[in-house]
Amino acid sequence: MWTDLKAHYARTEGRNILDLFAKGDRFGDFSAALGDMLFDYSKTNIDAETRASLIALAETAGVAARRDAMFAGEKINETEGRSVLHTALRNLNGRKVEVDGQDVMPAVLDTLSRMEAFATAVRDGSYSAQGGKITDVINIGIGGSDLGPAMAYRALSPYADGPACHYVSNVDGADIHDVLKKCDPTTTLVIVASKTFTTIETMTNAETARKWMAERVSDTGAQFAALSSADDKAAEWGIAAERVFGFEDWVGGRYSMWGPIGLSVMIAIGADDFRAFLQGGDAMDTHFLTADFSENLPVLLALVGIWHHQISGHGTRAVLPYDNRLGRLPAYFQQLEMESNGKSVSMDGSDLTNQAGPIVWGEPGTNGQHAFYQLIHQGTQVVPVEFMVAANGHEEDLAHHHKLLVANCFAQSEALLRGRSLDECRERMAAKGLTGEELERQARHRVFSGNRPSTTLIYPKMTPYVLGQIIALYEHRVFVEGTILGINSYDQWGVELGKELALALEPILSGDQDGAGKDGSTLGLVNYVQNA
Ligand code: F6P
Repeated sequence: MWTDLKAHYARTEGRNILDLFAKGDRFGDFSAALGDMLFDYSKTNIDAETRASLIALAETAGVAARRDAMFAGEKINETEGRSVLHTALRNLNGRKVEVDGQDVMPAVLDTLSRMEAFATAVRDGSYSAQGGKITDVINIGIGGSDLGPAMAYRALSPYADGPACHYVSNVDGADIHDVLKKCDPTTTLVIVASKTFTTIETMTNAETARKWMAERVSDTGAQFAALSSADDKAAEWGIAAERVFGFEDWVGGRYSMWGPIGLSVMIAIGADDFRAFLQGGDAMDTHFLTADFSENLPVLLALVGIWHHQISGHGTRAVLPYDNRLGRLPAYFQQLEMESNGKSVSMDGSDLTNQAGPIVWGEPGTNGQHAFYQLIHQGTQVVPVEFMVAANGHEEDLAHHHKLLVANCFAQSEALLRGRSLDECRERMAAKGLTGEELERQARHRVFSGNRPSTTLIYPKMTPYVLGQIIALYEHRVFVEGTILGINSYDQWGVELGKELALALEPILSGDQDGAGKDGSTLGLVNYVQNA
């Protein structure tokens, strides 16, 4: 099947995507919708035959059965012996979800109502700090305990009418220093977000925050909350049970923003808007579970990804949201996709026979246009692009800005598709009065090969509901790609070695231990710091 797809790619690689539009309604045939959300993949080299083969690939890989097993609470995260049920956190429609024969929904819904009661109390001032109503919330967490809420807080800022939220993740003291400087400890709530409650960066930052607060606040514990699967550790650390919001080990860190890890977002936008976010995710789940693969957004997005990376050999993909408030979305997707599918061993322990997931990167448009789009248009590597844009902005008085934003987004995908030929460039140079060798030389630099693939995800407006749809869409895309590649997308052993070595290096840097066994480069760098 892989061989057939690769052969099909070799046969079709040279053709022009633009020519595919000559036949029939390509836009209609190669786009799919969920309600008002539309995914357009017509500007790729995928034709009906390719799509049929890709769908067959997904079917043969058992995507449907594994999807159903995931939703049913089976332990599909085999290396950790865990179920994968972040979908239960947004299951507001009463679907029963069992793990080891026990319905997990009562506990999920109970935690959600505790979060809602707390968030509402923080917002209306009935939960107050030493100095009165909470003005600032600091979420201390890293990776999945930071990127999701930090991304969503920024994405949904038009809905934020609660306290200001700040996100501290880096162990670099500069991060917490700069946030604490902006806050008054007497009116600040600190949320320690850590699934394991052991992550060194988070626990170091939490200690620093506690010391900072203790200088002005007599009962610091009252102004701390914890989001964790390890409620015993949160209790040991001194956070009262009423402000510990727990979740189970079947919620992976990078899939956790739907539950307690989203508390800061709920405090910022309110419980109703947070529910709308969950409903958006849930709507995507239902679609993923029920839509035919040929119309199924997560499946199609994954198949386009497989086509571009594993079949066509393009090593990276760019996610380019035309929404300034989605500035952290590419970073969020980097963890979601690269921590999930950046593996070399398949579920059965054998080496992968295909490339694992691609490098994911990006930046909002139009800013990226003035930075790295040069390479996307004229560089030697093809970078498949995933554009994302809302038909309407939030700033009604600035509608002309939004028109320009949308025009730029569409113009970029059109330019990637169409390109500009040498003859066109010659004509343009001639019109400028150039002739002979100079015309030829200048024209060559202005050629755009075109025929570069992109997709566009478009929706009416960036609301909490739509954000929920998008995040769930990408989560399931990662799952489908992982399943086709034979990867367990839910473990992350690749982050462990660096963590262990950092712990071992700290005493060497401090001079409490010698560097026996360390390589020459590492010792040289340690030596530099010790003498700086
Ligand atoms: O180091 C990787 C990781 O384990 C991520 O998967 C996770 O999101 C992050 O660290 C933070 O972990 P925790 O929430 O346990 O502090």
